[in-house]
Amino acid sequence: MQDNLGIQTIDLIWQAGHIIRQYTGANKDIRHKSERDLVTAADLAVEQFLVEHLSALYPEYTLVAEESAVISNNAIPQRALYIDPIDGTTNFAHDFPFVAISVGAYRDGKGEWGIVYNPYSDELYSASSGEGAFLNGNHISVSNTDKLSNSLIGTGFPYDVIRSQRRQQVLSTMDAVMQQTRGIRRCGSAALDLCYVARGVFEGFYEWGLKPWDIAAGAIIVQEAGGSVSDMFYHAHNLYTDGILASNGILHQDLISLMQE
Ligand code: IPD
Ligand code: CA
Ligand code: CA
Ligand code: CA
Repeated sequence: MQDNLGIQTIDLIWQAGHIIRQYTGANKDIRHKSERDLVTAADLAVEQFLVEHLSALYPEYTLVAEESAVISNNAIPQRALYIDPIDGTTNFAHDFPFVAISVGAYRDGKGEWGIVYNPYSDELYSASSGEGAFLNGNHISVSNTDKLSNSLIGTGFPYDVIRSQRRQQVLSTMDAVMQQTRGIRRCGSAALDLCYVARGVFEGFYEWGLKPWDIAAGAIIVQEAGGSVSDMFYHAHNLYTDGILASNGILHQDLISLMQE
């Protein structure tokens, strides 16, 4: 691993995982940001903890964290840490243990390193540019499946999908993916979904409407595991464009074609 993703950073993420596990039952203090979009006491506590400690460790980076960020496509920081204190807040609220802390470092739009940690399964995914991808320190790589008919695909839905214009597109793409693949999974954490591509469980993952903190770390981990990441039209991966498609690389073009159906 590179020096900039050292044991101190990993240790902070482990400590943040411990904070998440301490919240149970009524302590979670579940609130609504909108009809389906939740935030809990744990999201806020983990974010505060990470912002405080990561800003001290990485003073030259702008911290962009979900619960406090104001982002604009016109003012993209040159060096940024994208922080999702809990990716999978709905899962967390319902005790569905597919939840992660996600932190990704970017410089001039390029991924430097990323960490995704599920504190319930104690799985820590990490990658730094040019160094490969790891799960709990063991090297991981994408699958070598070369047929859509043998593939398992992850996806997710934006919170406002039911009322948005995108609803029809989401439903028709799902129909196309369902017909051509072995199946679709909607697990509820985009960061972990991307890691499932990186470790070869999913052949692909796609979703519209994600924010930079959902995908920053996972995208680096997929790329370092030998996979491909792009938008839905095969343009280069960019944290600020709408729509992400990650795959084992072999099936990328086939999946791009499904996204256009
Ligand atoms: C959400 C999760 C979910 C995805 C949503 C995201 P959050 O993030 O990644 O899987 O489908 O679009 O907003 O709100 O739990 O951090
Ligand atoms: Ca998220
Ligand atoms: Ca979150
Ligand atoms: Ca959220």
